[in-house]
Amino acid sequence: MGNTVSIILAAGKGTRMKSQIPKVLHNICGQPMLCHVIRAAEKAGISRNIVVIGHGAETVRKAIDAGVEWVKQEEQLGTGHAVMQAGPLLSGVNGNVLVLCGDTPLITPDTLAGLIESHDRSGASVTVLTAVVDDPKGYGRILRNENGSVEGIVEHKDASSEQLNINEINTGIYCFNGQSLFSGLREISPANAQGEFYLTDVLAIIRKMGNSIGTVRIGDSLEVMGINDRVQLAEAERALRHRVLEELMVEGVTIIDPHNTYIDRDVSIGPDSIIYPGTIIEGRCQIGPNCRIGPYSRLSHVEVGHDSTIHNSVVAESVIGNSVTVGPFAYIRPGTVLRDDVKVGDFVEIKKSVIGQGSKVPHLSYVGDAEIGEQVNVGAGTITCNYDGSRKSKTVIGDKAFIGSNSNLVAPVNIGREAIVGAGSTVTKNVPEGALCVERSKQVVYPGWVARKTKKK
Ligand code: UD1
Ligand code: CA
Repeated sequence: MGNTVSIILAAGKGTRMKSQIPKVLHNICGQPMLCHVIRAAEKAGISRNIVVIGHGAETVRKAIDAGVEWVKQEEQLGTGHAVMQAGPLLSGVNGNVLVLCGDTPLITPDTLAGLIESHDRSGASVTVLTAVVDDPKGYGRILRNENGSVEGIVEHKDASSEQLNINEINTGIYCFNGQSLFSGLREISPANAQGEFYLTDVLAIIRKMGNSIGTVRIGDSLEVMGINDRVQLAEAERALRHRVLEELMVEGVTIIDPHNTYIDRDVSIGPDSIIYPGTIIEGRCQIGPNCRIGPYSRLSHVEVGHDSTIHNSVVAESVIGNSVTVGPFAYIRPGTVLRDDVKVGDFVEIKKSVIGQGSKVPHLSYVGDAEIGEQVNVGAGTITCNYDGSRKSKTVIGDKAFIGSNSNLVAPVNIGREAIVGAGSTVTKNVPEGALCVERSKQVVYPGWVARKTKKK
């Protein structure tokens, strides 16, 4: 597709979204819908992609991390006017121009490649991607003559009652011969129901010049669905999610209930991993083989090795090693690293801490800003007191140390290698290697106290 350039139209406001956010930035499976369109073009082999922006132009430009060229359409005077804005960038360019819309996120690279291929093969001046739909309301209709060749496109608002019965619609995706496109654009006028410069008018002009219009009819009209409101946004999300899950299943991942599993597009999962229901895996996540994730877990931007289990837990921006167990009911917060064979059990919160290989934090603990060595046992109810009201401080625990239950480790504090902290201690001073630290009042026992007390009454 070396001689094809794309122009992606994304300047419209998207009024029906009722949103402060530009329409093309609304997310579908973890990415702005514009990203999906750009990605489809790139995967179809198009290396030069020009995006026309207008409404919220700067916001859009900042939000999209892609190697595209940006063109601003100051006033939204119609799709034809939008394409014209890319004209100066393309002067002297010989070849195809693929026109796409930023609000059709379900379009696939295969469809685009097929459109370009058909265009090149037929020698037409433009090839339109069309679809036959049950409800053509709002779409431009494809006008064919008695021989079946395309004469033009009429917009819904400009159509006669007879034309409104046509159910073959313009998807808004075309492959143009670049020269025909730009010479046609010079001829269009806004003399229509919407007072806009319609890109669709270029087709009739091309026809009048004696050139031909090709069509490719798409089987699955869902793929070219334009997103105009939140209902369609949810519909597109469901369709794309289904695709993502299917790809993962084909790659060897078991997804117990695809209707109840939410995985973003930039997630990779190794074979023989099992994803249990109610699980959300979002952002850039990388999960190795043989893992068990869920039920009811949420992972965002997490890296997980192989053979690890995360159940009923929330994990964000963290790295989890191999053969690690997390949960049920754990909360792993950003900046955490759990090395291989770590066990984090129920009702444990860990923040910005490194837990060394084979260490265990099995129940009811808060570990924040800590560096824990290998094979450490952190007893139930242990708290790292990392915040004194103004500053955060660090707790460092050496290898094979044992922290008794219900201990408070008041940071900054170091617990040496193989040291033991007795249960219930509030540790405020460093504990040297191999030492026992007990910080609690001596136990007092009064024999027979209960009986004496009862007799008095
Ligand atoms: C357009 C087509 C219609 C087709 C439909 C498919 C025209 C005149 N009509 O109609 O035949 O059936 O798409 O979805 O082309 N845009 C700009 N600048 C503008 C106007 C629009 O960048 O000045 C962008 C929008 O952001 C959007 C795309 O162009 O991404 C389509 O515009 P929209 O207003 O949605 O066109 P439709 O009325 O849907
Ligand atoms: Ca539209």
